[in-house]
Amino acid sequence: MEKPDKLILRLIEEAKGRQGTLFYILNGIIKEIGYIPEDAVMLIAESLNISKAEVYGFLSFFKNYNADVESDRAYRKIIVCKSESCEASGSKQLLEHIKTSLNLDFGKYSFDGKYFLDYVYCFGHCSSSPVVKVDGLLYEKVTPETFDEIIKKLPEPDVKNSDFINIADLKNTKNYRKSIIFKRCGNINPLSVEDYVNAGGFSALKRVVAEIKSSGDDGKLLFINELKRSKLRGRGGAGFSAGIKWETVFKEKFGVKYIICNADEGDSGAYADRIILENDPMSVIEGMIIAALITGAEYGYIYLRSEYARTKSILENVLSLLKKTDYLGKNILGLGLGFDIDLITGAGSYLCGEETALMESIENKRGTVRMRPPVPAVSGLYGQPTVLNNVLTFAYAAYIFKDNSNLEYFLSLGTENSKGTMPFQVSGAVKNSGIFELPFGVTLKEVLNLAEAYESAKMVQIGGPLGAYFSLNDEFLNLKLSYEDVSEKGGMLGHGGIIVFDNKTDLKYRLLSSLDFFIDESCGKCAPCRIGTVRVKELFERVLKKQNIEENLKIIDDILESMKNLSLCGFGAGIHMPVRSLLAFYKNEIKT
Ligand SMILES: Cc1cc2nc3c(=O)[nH]c(=O)nc-3n(C[C@H](O)[C@H](O)[C@H](O)COP(=O)(O)O)c2cc1C
Ligand code: SF4
Ligand code: FES
Repeated sequence: MEKPDKLILRLIEEAKGRQGTLFYILNGIIKEIGYIPEDAVMLIAESLNISKAEVYGFLSFFKNYNADVESDRAYRKIIVCKSESCEASGSKQLLEHIKTSLNLDFGKYSFDGKYFLDYVYCFGHCSSSPVVKVDGLLYEKVTPETFDEIIKKLPEPDVKNSDFINIADLKNTKNYRKSIIFKRCGNINPLSVEDYVNAGGFSALKRVVAEIKSSGDDGKLLFINELKRSKLRGRGGAGFSAGIKWETVFKEKFGVKYIICNADEGDSGAYADRIILENDPMSVIEGMIIAALITGAEYGYIYLRSEYARTKSILENVLSLLKKTDYLGKNILGLGLGFDIDLITGAGSYLCGEETALMESIENKRGTVRMRPPVPAVSGLYGQPTVLNNVLTFAYAAYIFKDNSNLEYFLSLGTENSKGTMPFQVSGAVKNSGIFELPFGVTLKEVLNLAEAYESAKMVQIGGPLGAYFSLNDEFLNLKLSYEDVSEKGGMLGHGGIIVFDNKTDLKYRLLSSLDFFIDESCGKCAPCRIGTVRVKELFERVLKKQNIEENLKIIDDILESMKNLSLCGFGAGIHMPVRSLLAFYKNEIKT
């Protein structure tokens, strides 16, 4: 095995000229030896000419670097998903079983030193939850019984071998009726440029190149206007107009410009980004290349969450394939304009899905949120104009630009303010979990029917951990799934995840788990969120002890209101949605 100092020096050398240098080096160390040795901090700081405090500040921010175990210690690492969809599918009972049968607790070894237990907030395999990772292998639909079987059959531990997954889950991708961007998934080889081209891929890019060749900036404006006309809204959660974002970057006349694809997909219950990146990655890349040619960017980055090991390997392969063609590189399709894409892998922070925290982390800083304005389109990565969009937004842009009939079809679907389709990702208490790409405006009931929700289904959470919980009564079953309709009912559509909970859901446990998540993931930059998350949990614990229930619930509500109005980003500002809606359920439960 390579000696740690040699390994670190090699990684530092390889990282030169890349963005996301610290991620590259530290992720490389973790992959090879499982923890960050004390000496690494000094070595990295000296080599990169930054302070030790900066390196230490960075690595202490990210969950993946917290391990302090010696590499040669024989242990089996068990990582359990603690998030909503897994909970709705039985992870609470599973976790109790793991803890009692192996004498374990989070962050601790078993008595015999053989097992180590850790947790993650969502593996992005929610349609097959509960999910557990043991020694680098991901197991889906795990029950206490199958867990015992897994443990019995384990081969000798191999700390390094953490990059593959044992179950393909394309079977869970449903291409229902109005499928637009998921149409190719499962029907082409994701690693074949030929397959992609034969299935209509790169037609939009060719159209854009031809138009820019003949009309220059007027050609670029034509596409910006098409994008604005399509009313495409970013699919990462906030639903901002993609056309306005691209136009802003196009209009910036100075500086290096960047394209960033946000593939951090941290929402529990969300996995559409992963599925498309693994099965039709070139559609996303095509959207990024088009964005670059139109706005004048030369460098692009896909920022991928670290939990997506298989996605990472597919993307590495696809990018290296495309770099050998003229779809990427110095002279795209003979246009005389260049664009290249690199992959950056994060290190276990939900908050780094927020666009400014994401860019901070690429710049080797802790993943904390920046003040806005300026928005990233004006001052993004390294203060330069940056188009930062979600994975799906780029795929939709490539679809829309292919030809006029695609644009018209897109416009014909959906509601007034939410055009086109959304891949709704359903999991939890349903028979038929998976992705249903349907037009906006479909009702919750229709989606739940397609997913065959259990009769015992009691409530849903829409839009990830910051989304509201809705009771499955007539009012909410008829709720139209669009940005505007869901927010009118006090929630948010977010990235389109829908987690179904049955009537056995332990609401107290649900509330405490989500409060733990908020405390864990707050970046700490602003006081309302940093302090508010902790205070809300303390007060709720008092409620559980039946201490001044009404008074404490009132204080919780006041704090949530302050967080909503005063937090710096959507994380603190959004916490009131799940907490208030859950408390409403819980209040009914403790009163009955
Ligand atoms: C706490 C938090 C987490 C977020 N996580 C993600 C994410 O994982 N993926 C994503 O695309 N957007 C995420 N966003 C939204 C991004 O900040 C940003 O709005 C989005 O990536 C822009 O792309 P879009 O316009 O295509 O949606 C998050 C926002 C917040 C406040
Ligand atoms: S709201 Fe929370 S996550 Fe957002 S900036 Fe403030 S402390 Fe950070
Ligand atoms: S894999 Fe557990 S909630 Fe997503």
